[in-house]
Parts: sequence; structure tokens; C-alpha cells
Amino acid sequence: MSNLIFFFLIIILISFINAPICSSLENPSHFIKHGVIQQKYLEISRPLPFANLTPSCTLPILSHHFGDTIGLPPVSVAYAPPDNCSWNHVALQFNASSNGIQYDRIAAVWLDGADIFRTSTAESTESSVFWTVTKDVTRYSSLLAKEDISLSVMLENMVNDVYTGVYYVNVTILYYYIEEMNAPLSTISTNRKVRMVDDVFVDNPIRGSLGLNEKPADLIIPISGNNGGEGFWFRIQSDSELKGKSVIIPKNTYKAVMEICVSFHGLDEFWYSNPPDSYIRENSLTSQRGHGSYREVLLNIDRNLVGSVVPFPVIYPGGINPLYWDPIVSIGAFDHPSYDIDITPILGDLLDGKSHFMGLKVLDSLPFWLVDANLHLWVDKQCTSDCEVQGEVVDYGTPDYEMKRSSSFKGLDGSYEVELKRKSQYHGWVNSSAGNLTTTVSRELKFKNEIKFDNKGTEKKVKQKVEEEIEISVVSETGMKISHTTMKRKYPLTITTKTSKPSREDGTIIMHSELENEWNEKKKWSNRDSHSCSSSLKNRQKCKGCMSVQDRIVLQGGATTEQSYSYNGEASTYSREIAAVNGTLVHDTANYVKSPSVSAL
Ligand SMILES: *[C@@H]1O[C@H](CO)[C@@H](O)[C@H](O)[C@H]1NC(C)=O
Ligand SMILES: *[C@@H]1O[C@H](CO)[C@@H](O)[C@H](O)[C@H]1NC(C)=O
Ligand SMILES: *[C@@H]1O[C@H](CO)[C@@H](O)[C@H](O)[C@H]1NC(C)=O
Ligand SMILES: *[C@@H]1O[C@H](CO)[C@@H](O)[C@H](O)[C@H]1NC(C)=O
Ligand SMILES: *[C@@H]1O[C@H](CO)[C@@H](O)[C@H](O)[C@H]1NC(C)=O
Ligand SMILES: *[C@@H]1O[C@H](CO)[C@@H](O)[C@H](O)[C@H]1NC(C)=O
Repeated sequence: MSNLIFFFLIIILISFINAPICSSLENPSHFIKHGVIQQKYLEISRPLPFANLTPSCTLPILSHHFGDTIGLPPVSVAYAPPDNCSWNHVALQFNASSNGIQYDRIAAVWLDGADIFRTSTAESTESSVFWTVTKDVTRYSSLLAKEDISLSVMLENMVNDVYTGVYYVNVTILYYYIEEMNAPLSTISTNRKVRMVDDVFVDNPIRGSLGLNEKPADLIIPISGNNGGEGFWFRIQSDSELKGKSVIIPKNTYKAVMEICVSFHGLDEFWYSNPPDSYIRENSLTSQRGHGSYREVLLNIDRNLVGSVVPFPVIYPGGINPLYWDPIVSIGAFDHPSYDIDITPILGDLLDGKSHFMGLKVLDSLPFWLVDANLHLWVDKQCTSDCEVQGEVVDYGTPDYEMKRSSSFKGLDGSYEVELKRKSQYHGWVNSSAGNLTTTVSRELKFKNEIKFDNKGTEKKVKQKVEEEIEISVVSETGMKISHTTMKRKYPLTITTKTSKPSREDGTIIMHSELENEWNEKKKWSNRDSHSCSSSLKNRQKCKGCMSVQDRIVLQGGATTEQSYSYNGEASTYSREIAAVNGTLVHDTANYVKSPSVSAL
């Protein structure tokens, strides 16, 4: 067993500095660390279906070092797809390295203003750290086929005598051509420079988060900030802000999905562990991390609520106990999930050729949230110029909303609970050359969060459960089933922190923490021939750690992280069990089986 002992200097964020250190109110918090060995960081995910193929083209699009970049606009480069290249799948590869003390930073990649990749950096130490993330970006094909657009990367970093880490980043775009089974390899749309193979997308429940069986959208409209000076994302500082954009939707659109991209920072980095304001007030705490532990991102169209997202609690590599995330980062840290809301049933209200306001807000939010969205649109290509697709919203359903909050505190001890239930159903038809199709989107969301403080506030337990079920059915005018999709997601989370009283001699405190976090997802899809597919994913992390802190400097610590990833799809199954102790991988087994019946994928 390696006897590596780590010494960590931990500098606690400014918001911690004024708070009573013996209270675990501020935990989980956000730290920085020193390390002594070169480390490759990784986020566990399954291989991309085309990972072992040779790309038909490789485009090294950006190579940049992000030094002192606070307040600077994103770095932008011109984008055009490679010449004379056939492709129907695309991956974005983000490689980064650093050698110097640095915080974990948030970063994003935008293509033509659309958010195609949201990531956080690993926490860098004096010795070099590096990592690679590869994301399937095939769903952005309509943008990737465009010329004369720009690709932008934002990564705000601060470099000075203390924080010396510069992040070196390479972004590469890999284009693949995959001959898919059962696919009509007929239409090859050729233009001067690009040969993008069209209509080769088979019914494949693996692709996209809800887009499931279809080919990528024909058009993507970014719902993002226009000038990009502060990044294309909207910075939301409070509950009262509604940020968004007015857009005109082409009159021949027959399907629309809004993809929401979100990350939370500052006072809301650990929103799911924030106590109510009354707890802070009554105990005269100086913390500003309050507003309770419920947050929800709302999507409004023309000021009507049409959907919402309770984001998965992505923990950045400096969060809770930075020793947890060495070298396995938390679920979603390197490849943030985005969330799809199918708005096809309300297209009938949006096909009038007028502009409609697409707005985002975050309920109960504290500074700050970074949100934006991509509107994916599928258009009827047989209906151009004068032709209009007709549609009508038949029913907005009767949205059901129930919210309960309760708290009972005596001094620093007590508990707080918040519970939310939301139910909605949208129902509408759209008549295009694909037929007169009626889409019904039903959704049920259950959210519950419980926070308990014990032992004069030095022990804190957070327990959260998010459960969501989405059902999308498409039927023809004669009532025939065209497709039926269900998706169930669960995100259970528990965090326990215990902070000792400062020792009399030197003020050292000991912090113990435990974390369990899980992404659990099941999808099912069937079509008119009752051909059906399903997939499931269970991705779970369990961490335990301890650090001793003196004058906000961590002297010593250790942590164990165990992760279990299990994916079952039509095209492949993949499972991985991995564990790290004190910054070293101690166990790593993987099992990957590709289904022979879906040869290429
Ligand atoms: C395009 O690629 C094909 C096949 O690799 C090659 O034969 C052809 O010469 C290329 N055309 C141009 C313009 O580069
Ligand atoms: C990025 O990292 C991958 C995996 O280590 C490597 O294969 C690839 O060559 C790297 N690309 C660049 C541009 O550094
Ligand atoms: C980026 O690419 C350059 C040139 O290939 C290479 O020297 C460097 O090591 C790469 N850096 C990272 C972080 O991948
Ligand atoms: C439905 O759309 C098709 C294709 O655009 C069109 O030919 C047909 O007339 C439309 N039906 C009605 C009732 O408008
Ligand atoms: C499309 O179907 C719906 C429901 O069956 C019907 O009410 C509507 O009139 C149809 N629209 C067209 C244009 O035919
Ligand atoms: C990990 O570090 C902790 C704290 O230094 C130590 O108590 C523990 O024995 C270490 N575990 C291993 C397996 O090295």
C-alpha cells in the first residue's frame, strides 16, 4: 500500500472567513489543495459508441492557455467544417493540463453562441494535473455543418502569487462516418466544401437525452447572451431575474426541444445544503448561504411557464472535501448534464412568424447561476417559402403544483424540510408533410430535501431526492401510435459533515464527511411497429473523508471514493467499478459488451 502522505493547504472561500469555524453551517464548502504527484483526473462514463473508430477528419480548433482571465471575454476562433470530409457523428475533445495551485473553474464551449459543452476544471496542484473529456456532439450537427461561425471558450481564472495554476486547453473536433444498419444510405447532401451524410440515423434510444430516436435537429437557435463579452451564458443573481431572448421560429417547424444548460456557483454552489434564512438570522450567523435548499430552473415562453429543471447536484473538484475528487471527479464535473424539454405540443402558438420570448429564471436563487439554452428545431423540408406548417395547442393541462416547507430549530440544532411536487401535461397537434401528429408531453416531478443540524450545529446531514418521470406520446390523426417514450430519472444525494471544536492548544479542527450521490435513469422507446428499445444507467459515488484544518489550512487528510457505473443499452452494456484512496486508484474493473446486432454502434 502506498504510504503517500499528502499535505494540503486549504484556503477556504471568502464567504467562510467570517463564519464561526466550529459550526458546520458552511459545510460543505469549497477548498483548494496542494499535491505532490502528477495526476491524471477522470470522470467515469461509458465509451462513445464510435470511440474505437478512426475519425474521417480531425480538426484541432483551439489551443489556448487560460492565465489571468477574470473579466475577459471568451476566446473565439473561426469555425468551418473540414474540407472534403464525410461525417455523420461528431465528438468534441477537451484536453487540459496545469501545474500550479488553482481553484476549480467553470468553463464552457459555445458554437455560434450555442452552449455545446459545460465543464469544470480539476483542481490543479504544484505538480502537473491533466485530463481529457470527449463528448458526443452529434446532436449539434446542423451547427457543425455551418461555415463562417465561431467557436468560443470561456474559462475565467485568476493567477497571482498564491494561485499560480494556468490552464492549458486544447479543443479538437473529431468527425466520424458510421454506416448504420437499417439506414437508407441514400441522400448525400454535397456542397462546395462539406459532405455531410444525411438521413442515416436509425431508431436509436441511446442518442441524446430525450431526442432519442431521431436525427439531429435541422436548426439550433441559441437562447444565450448576444454579445458574449461575459460569456454567452446568462448570469442569474436572484429569483426576480428572467433572462432570455426573443426568437422567431420558422413557420415550417414540426418539432421543437429546448435544451437547458445550467451550473451553480458562489453562494449557491451547494444550494441543496443551504439552510433557511431564519436559521441564519436567529443564530446571528454571518453566512449568506441561505434561502433554503430548493432551487428550480424555469423555462418560460412569452412569460408562461412551459417546463422546469431541478438540476443534478454536480460537485466541483474543490467541493465538500477536495480529497474526494483525486483523481476521480464527481458525476458530471467534467461533462455537465443538460436537460431537454420537449415543447412540440405548444408549437401551435409559436408558428405565427412573430417573435416569442424564451426566458429562464431560477427560483429562490442566490448569486450566481450560469444558464443558457439551445432550441433544437426540426423543419419540414417539403414545406418551404409560402408553405406553413399548421398547429394548435389543444390543452395546456392543469398544472399541479404543491410545495411544503417546514422547519424547527432550537439554537443551532434542528431540521428543515422542503418538498415539491409538480405535474403537467401539454397536448397539441402539428400538421406537416410527416402527417397530422398529436404530441402529448406529461411530466411528474418530485423533490424532497431535508437538512438536520445536531450537536450545536457541528453535525449536518443533507438528504435530497429528486424524481422525474417524462412521457411523450405521438399519435397520428387516425389515433395510430407513432412513438412512445418514457424517461425516469432519480438523483438521490446524502451529505454528512462533522466538525470538531477547535483544539485548545492550536485551534486545529477536524472535519469528517461522507457523501453519496447518484444519477439513475431509465428510458424506453417504442414506435408504430411496436419495435421497442430501452436503456438504463445507474451511476453512483460514495465518498468518505477527513481533514484536519488549522487556521483554515488543512494539515493532513485522507479520503476514499468508490464509484459504480452500470449502463445497459440496446447497442452495448458497460459497467465499471472504480475506487481511489488518498489520491491513488486502488481498484478499477470495467466490462464492455457491444451488441452484435447493432454492428456499427
Ligand atoms: C476528396 O477525397 C477523395 C477521397 O479521399 C479524394 O479522392 C479527392 O481527391 C478529394 N478531393 C479534394 C478536392 O480534396
Ligand atoms: C487529447 O488527449 C487524448 C487522450 O489522452 C489524446 O489521444 C489526444 O491526442 C489529445 N489531443 C490533443 C490535441 O492534445
Ligand atoms: C495541446 O497540444 C499541444 C500541441 O499538440 C501539445 O504540445 C500540448 O501538450 C497539448 N496540451 C494539452 C493540455 O493537451
Ligand atoms: C396538412 O399538411 C399537409 C402537408 O403540408 C397538407 O398537404 C395538408 O393540406 C394539410 N392539411 C390540412 C387540413 O391543412
Ligand atoms: C389534426 O388532428 C387534430 C386531432 O385529430 C384535429 O383536431 C385537427 O383539425 C387536425 N388538423 C388538420 C390541419 O387537419
Ligand atoms: C489515507 O490517509 C489517512 C489520513 O492521512 C490515513 O489515516 C489512512 O491510513 C490513509 N489510507 C491509506 C490506505 O493509505
